[in-house]
Amino acid sequence: MPSRKIPSVSELVSRPATNRLPAWKALAARSRRSGRTGLRDLFAADSRRASRFTVEALGITFDHSKHLIDTKTMDLLFDLAEEAGVTGHRDAMFAGERINVTEDRAVLHVALRAPKGAVIEVDGENVVPHVHEVLGRMGRFANKVRGGRWLGHSGRPVRNVINIGIGGSDLGPAMAYDAMRKWASDDLTVRFVSNVDANDFVEKTRDLDPEETLFIVSSKTFTTLETMTNAHTARRWVLKAFDGDKAAAARHFVAVSTNAAEVEKFGIDTANMFGFWDWVGGRYSMDSAIGLSTMIAVGPKRFRELLDGFHDMDEHFRTAPPRRNLPMIQALIGIWNACFLDADTVAVLPYDQYLDRFSAYLQQLEMESNGKHVTLAGKHVSWGTCPVIWGQPGTNGQHAFYQMIHQGTRIVPCDFLVFADPVNKVGDHHDKLVANVFAQTEALAFGKTLEEILAEGVDPKVAPHKVMEGDRPTSTFLCDKLSPRMLGRLIAMYEHKVFVQGSIWRVNSFDQWGVELGKKLAQAIIPELRSKDRPRLKHDGSTNALIRKYRGLRGRS
Ligand code: F6P
Repeated sequence: MPSRKIPSVSELVSRPATNRLPAWKALAARSRRSGRTGLRDLFAADSRRASRFTVEALGITFDHSKHLIDTKTMDLLFDLAEEAGVTGHRDAMFAGERINVTEDRAVLHVALRAPKGAVIEVDGENVVPHVHEVLGRMGRFANKVRGGRWLGHSGRPVRNVINIGIGGSDLGPAMAYDAMRKWASDDLTVRFVSNVDANDFVEKTRDLDPEETLFIVSSKTFTTLETMTNAHTARRWVLKAFDGDKAAAARHFVAVSTNAAEVEKFGIDTANMFGFWDWVGGRYSMDSAIGLSTMIAVGPKRFRELLDGFHDMDEHFRTAPPRRNLPMIQALIGIWNACFLDADTVAVLPYDQYLDRFSAYLQQLEMESNGKHVTLAGKHVSWGTCPVIWGQPGTNGQHAFYQMIHQGTRIVPCDFLVFADPVNKVGDHHDKLVANVFAQTEALAFGKTLEEILAEGVDPKVAPHKVMEGDRPTSTFLCDKLSPRMLGRLIAMYEHKVFVQGSIWRVNSFDQWGVELGKKLAQAIIPELRSKDRPRLKHDGSTNALIRKYRGLRGRS
């Protein structure tokens, strides 16, 4: 096979505006003309529609036939991906090019899950051996904790593990712990503290014995306000139990970070630090050392299965032709919905209680990655970018917000995720659960007309209220079984979906400057809230008034 040329970073930056691409223009015209052709008509016109718009790979059946698409629309979307140069961009990422242009960094979370023999280079150096060296250290440490051989300062084995981190240093591990609960050790209590609100720390530690508790301070930068505040509180909590003996910290704190200097400054021995690299973005880091709490919970073997699942999807994304490529198709349909059908949000609805935190995890992955308004070249985009991502596990959501999805005035495309084989086989729960998925997507797609309702003999005054317009687009991901490996595949599928969308929208999916201003302002406001003397405030009128009011309520001048 001829090897494709990998575009340089400057070529990526100078690609033409997305809305000038012929396929984009054709899609815009098409959405005006036929974007609203109803699903009833689309299914009636094509008896093979369901199979035509279903793709299977890696134990995931992705039915996208209940979207407002047809063959021509899909052809144009694949043309769009080609004209936008998505595959070249993808290859540049896998080749370690510095595609995170605003931070001048490579983007290589795919290296975190590469098998031992793989070669992935950054600046001519193969990073895979480094990844496996850290995984090996993590494994030995995890086994010690799991085996009761990591002792606290008083010589008692650690039984409680608390990850302190926020954003990418919390959401992935917290989500994965819930998702893999079934495989987690029953001998350990694993918890996550993230919020700078002390209620989080207090509630997560109130029933724990400090002598049996290990804190993993997880922070890429080791400077994040929330994490460092919680870490200092944790240290005070531990030292109190040992009458202030500072030596106790060594047995009760380990760190996960890229910043050895700050870890040392905090007082954690760098021998107990697990590192990662600047080419791992925070929200793409759950399979780096940031996953240490996950590995302790489920063990190194299950953690490797999780990584293998990620790697399966990496290979699929890298090698499968666009028309068989799960993340590519998912991304393109998302672009159709968001940019051409004006859908502002996407609901992610996992029908599995173990995926309770999946939507929260995806919120950071998608919205921090693609919630951008300038292109790689720094020009304001002339198209919409990331929609709002939200959701809850089914069936709970059905009894809360689905009403709006069925009959509201806004179109909310939904991702339904469900597993054929239940983790817990209890009575007929699972068939009932799955029936609800299929019923929801059927109702959302085809609705119920006024005529159908009247034909049922419903009072004509009530009948309009019962009309379901249908044409609510949904994706169904019917997966074999929730397992560590399948979880890895699903997360990687969303990661690569985000990549494809970011590539088409031309944004840098790997920086997050938008969160900086608020952080900076908070740092300035903290002393204004805490100072004994009345501060001289120089904010806007509203912020000044709120600061004064708060100080007054707290009895400060
Ligand atoms: O909120 C911004 C952010 O930088 C995220 O991107 C990141 O995941 C989170 O803060 C935590 O950062 P750190 O791991 O450096 O503490």
